[in-house]
Amino acid sequence: DKGQYRHYMLKEIYEQPEVIKDTLRGRISKDKILEQAFGAQAKEIFDKTKAVQIIACGTSYHSGMVAKYLIEGIAGVPCRVEVASEFRYRKFVVQDDTLIVTISQSGETADTLAALRLAKTLGYAATMTICNVAQSSLVRESDLALMTEAGPEVGVASTKAFTTQLVALVLLTIALGKRNGLSAEKEAEMVSSLHQLPQILSEVLTLDQSIEKMSEAFADKHNALFLGRGVQWPVAMEGALKLKEISYIHAESYPAGELKHGPLALVDSEMPIVAVAPNDELLEKLKSNLEEVQARGGELFVFADNNSGFSSGDGITVIKLAPVPELIAPIVYTIPLQLLSYHVAVLKGTDVDQPRNLAKSVTVE
Ligand code: F6R
Repeated sequence: DKGQYRHYMLKEIYEQPEVIKDTLRGRISKDKILEQAFGAQAKEIFDKTKAVQIIACGTSYHSGMVAKYLIEGIAGVPCRVEVASEFRYRKFVVQDDTLIVTISQSGETADTLAALRLAKTLGYAATMTICNVAQSSLVRESDLALMTEAGPEVGVASTKAFTTQLVALVLLTIALGKRNGLSAEKEAEMVSSLHQLPQILSEVLTLDQSIEKMSEAFADKHNALFLGRGVQWPVAMEGALKLKEISYIHAESYPAGELKHGPLALVDSEMPIVAVAPNDELLEKLKSNLEEVQARGGELFVFADNNSGFSSGDGITVIKLAPVPELIAPIVYTIPLQLLSYHVAVLKGTDVDQPRNLAKSVTVE
């Protein structure tokens, strides 16, 4: 039931504060993760994990891309990420003590399931899935399952499954980090950020009307670029995928530092450029990348931290977000991009919940 909402996608976007609470429930205390809640084998598996190989498709692959920044950057554990349809058909080198992590909303994606089955024949140390469907094949066939508690996701374009996956991946990052020198203070700080997340997301959702206004600039465009740096690059990837899927506007994402190596040639006044700009250590770099875009007549649409020094003006529209802890910034900055693509699709009159040519669960290759 869509309730008061016009589309399931919008309802599911708005459910995020609640389902993230559900995903955290029982898994964190005031200042620690509660690892016993991850499953009977969790301790043993995490103890022996020396590297992580993530396998997923689509939006779930993007959450894996975010996780790579967290697992390497915070836990200090080597982490590779690959789309399942590639992983299953190439020869790769199996590193000792690697934990395979599949990520999937449905738990039935054919390529991801085949990749898991293949990995199990190749001597990986253990397998874990981050999944939203308890009775699914991925859950049944993995040693460990960390369930996202997003509830049923009806909209074909994934929203709440993605952000709950990111929450689960933060929990995994903490679990691996603790075995690799992550201090109790740092754990407490990270857990505190997670506790703040539902409230922060509720506040971000109040930007809906300004984002709806912003969406008007996209409805008659044929292309768009999404830019981010560092952990925000996969957030931009996910933003571009959402816009493609439901509004049928061609959208690409780039790590902003790559612009001058090619895509800058695409920029003109017909190319809207969306950027996610929290106040992190790459902000100044991102700013100079965006100046290059503006100098070529590209129109900028920036979701920026209050203190980032961006302001709306000629050729630039800025929507400001309150400062947020760096750990949860990828989750927070995903929300405005979901809303943007939603409103563009509504303006264009597409079938938001059931975009052409796509299926909710891709159970064939
Ligand atoms: C995009 C989307 C798809 C899925 C992909 C994997 O909005 O929904 O890209 O993310 O088909 O599906 P799951 O997560 O069920 O394995």
